[in-house]
Formats: sequence, C-alpha cells, structure tokens
Amino acid sequence: MTHPAVELVAALAAARRAAHLYPRSHPAYAESVAALRAAVAGCLASGACTLSLYAGRLYHGEDPLPSDAPAVRSIAETFESHGIESLAFHPEVTEHELVSLLDVLAARPEPGTDVASELQRLGVAGITVGIVVDEAAEEAERRDRAKEQDRALYQRLLALVRGLSEQVAQGGEPDLEGAGILVEGVLARLMEDSAAVLGLTTLSSTSEPALFHAVNTMAYALVLGAELGIPEEGLASLGVSALLHDIGKVAFDLSDPEQARRAELLHPAVGAEVLSRLPDSDRTPMLVAYEHHMAPDGSGFPDREPGYVTHPYSRIVAVANRYDHLVAARPEGLGLSRDRAVLQVLHEGGSALDGMFARLLAKAFGVFPVGCVVRLSDQSVGVVAAPGPHPLKPRVRIVFEPDGAQAERARILDLSNEHVDIVEVLDPNSLPLDVFDNV
Ligand SMILES: [Fe+2]
Ligand SMILES: [Fe+2]
Repeated sequence: MTHPAVELVAALAAARRAAHLYPRSHPAYAESVAALRAAVAGCLASGACTLSLYAGRLYHGEDPLPSDAPAVRSIAETFESHGIESLAFHPEVTEHELVSLLDVLAARPEPGTDVASELQRLGVAGITVGIVVDEAAEEAERRDRAKEQDRALYQRLLALVRGLSEQVAQGGEPDLEGAGILVEGVLARLMEDSAAVLGLTTLSSTSEPALFHAVNTMAYALVLGAELGIPEEGLASLGVSALLHDIGKVAFDLSDPEQARRAELLHPAVGAEVLSRLPDSDRTPMLVAYEHHMAPDGSGFPDREPGYVTHPYSRIVAVANRYDHLVAARPEGLGLSRDRAVLQVLHEGGSALDGMFARLLAKAFGVFPVGCVVRLSDQSVGVVAAPGPHPLKPRVRIVFEPDGAQAERARILDLSNEHVDIVEVLDPNSLPLDVFDNV
C-alpha cells in the first residue's frame, strides 16, 4: 500500500497541475481539489501531516519520501522555489483553504513576499507553512533599516544646526533644548554601534559645508569622548559643545573675503558671547566655542595669559575639528584621505593639538578609519566598516570582487580572520560607489 503521505504529495502535485491547466470553474479542477482534500484526510488519519524539505529531500515527519517518484520530485522543487521549509495540514483545513494554497503556489515567487505571509493574508488557518529564513537577506534588510534611520538622524541634526544658526544670525538666542534631545539620539546610537556614528560622517555634501562640519565634528568628538570613558551626561555636554563650536561664524557674511578673514579670528569670542547670554545653562559650550582654536603650545587664538589652561572638552573638539577639516572636500577642507588625516593629527599632537587626544583619535579611529576605501591584496575593493582587534586589520565591506564585479551587499570581511591585507587606500571619488551606503 502506498504511504498516505506519498498519496498526499501525488494529489498536491496533480491539483497544482490542474490549477495551471483549467479554469477554477472546470470540473477537473474541482475534482482535483476534492482528491487533495481526501488525501489530506487520509494522511491526517495516520497521524500528523507535515511535509518538509531537508537537504533537497522531501520528508513526511521523520520519514524520507521516495525521491524517484515524479510527484515527490515536483513538490520538492516547488518547496525549493518558494522557500518553503515545511507544510503542515491541520484537521480543520477546508477545501477553500486548499484552493488558496494552490493559488499561492501557482503564483510566481516574488522577492519580499513568502507563502506563509500570503496564506496568513488570505486568512488560512488550517495550513501552516514554515519558511526558509534567508539570514543574509534578513541581515541586509536590518542594515538597510539602520542606514535609513542614520540618514534621517543626520538630516535632523543638519536641520537643527541650520535652525540654531538662523536664530543666532537674526540676533536671537539659540534654543538648546532640541539640541540636547538630538545629541542624546546620537549617544544612543554611539553606545549601540560606534562605527555607525563614524559612518555618518561619510555623508557628503556640496552645499552647506558649515552644517556638515558642525555635525561631523560632533560625531568625532563623541567617539573620542566615549573612548576616553566620559560618562553619558558629560558626553551630552561635549556633543552640544562640538555642534556649536563655530556658531560665532554665523554673525559674519562669509561670502565677503574681508568678513571671512575677520570671522576666522573673531568667531570664538563672538560664539562665546552668544552662548554666554543663555540663562542657567551648561557653561561648557561657551568655553569650547571660546577655546577651540587655542593650541597647547601657546599658538592659536584668542590671545591669552601664559599658563592659561583650556577645558579638556575644548581640546577634544579642537582635535575633532581639525580631523574634519583635514578630510573635508576642498575648498573648505584639505581633502585628505582618512588614513592620512589620522597621521596628520598625530603629527600635530603636542604642538597645535593636544598630544593625548591626538593619540586617542589614532587609537579610536585606527590606521584605516571607518569610511576608508581600500584595495585588498586579492584585488577586491571595499570600504572599512568597523575597526578590528588589530589596527591594520579592520572589518571591510567588499564592494568590488577581485574580478571587478559588483559584490553582494552583505559580504563583510573581517581581515583579522583572513589571509588578505590592505594594500592601498583609494580615492572614493575615483570609483562608482557610495561610501555611506557601504560602511
Ligand atoms: Fe572654529
Ligand atoms: Fe570648526
């Protein structure tokens, strides 16, 4: 006697074929559905009725079904093409539900939909479908969602600085309440994934460079502050201070070369004056605005008494500010690659910049900071997505395979586990890739 599950598979294959061949009103179709219903009942009579696919083979419960039977092969292929892992029929299954199943199986599988959710949408309760979970696709989806949220966070920060700048330009006082809330959003992201906060700074713009500078300086300063172990309240103050360090510049018309020159020298004092007018607020942003161009070797501005000691946050923001200036595109910045900018910051540590915080930046950002576009020794090209345990071996998202073909999005290489090395840092503008999308 044929196994009831084999009969069920045969009836399922026949009904699916009938669904392809005949209109729904055709008696042959109705007959095939009735036969399927009977086969389900027969199978259920012998116990649970679950078909599953494992390693390309169809099973009923624990028992493999004969793979030489054409119906078994055909249903195994259907499972495969629709990403079905298991199909369970329950005693209460109705004929109408079997028709729904046939309809769903007859439809061409499409990305983003699966048989389980389609049946759920149709209200089918008598059949349960287990879907093969595509972990790579799920991970890519999670990443896409996080990227969207990061992009939105960055846009909100830009809008915030734009709003504060307008308030100050019109002679008003900046409302820092919103700034505190947004900086807390960045802090939450920082605790979750500090590489993502560094990744934010790879968003580029051709317009509004001052706003991008403010937001990037904040991101860098927060990464440095977190690396240093500053507690959360201190980080919030550091973030707001970094965001507002150049607020004094909005009092000048930077399109006029003479005013731009004056702005460069005077923006610390003007910014501090604006921030000093805020009642009962944290004094740190005011200090940082005033001190962020004072170098430890006594150079820089404004002038000060010998022995004047700057606030540590002013020194952190000075390092973050310098790094952003080094990597920002010309003409505002110097357009250095991120790895070169780390070396330059180290070089300036102890003279123009605080030596300890310069070294801290090198430690936190690594030799190849997040956002560096690199060629590997196997000729693949990728973007540094996160630091690794070894400064020369970060985690790299592969964008172009060794043969030059575009790589799959989710492929990330942890160089500390691979026999490939970084051989070259590339200019991201020389390649057709979006750095932010790939960090
Ligand atoms: Fe400045
Ligand atoms: Fe600045």
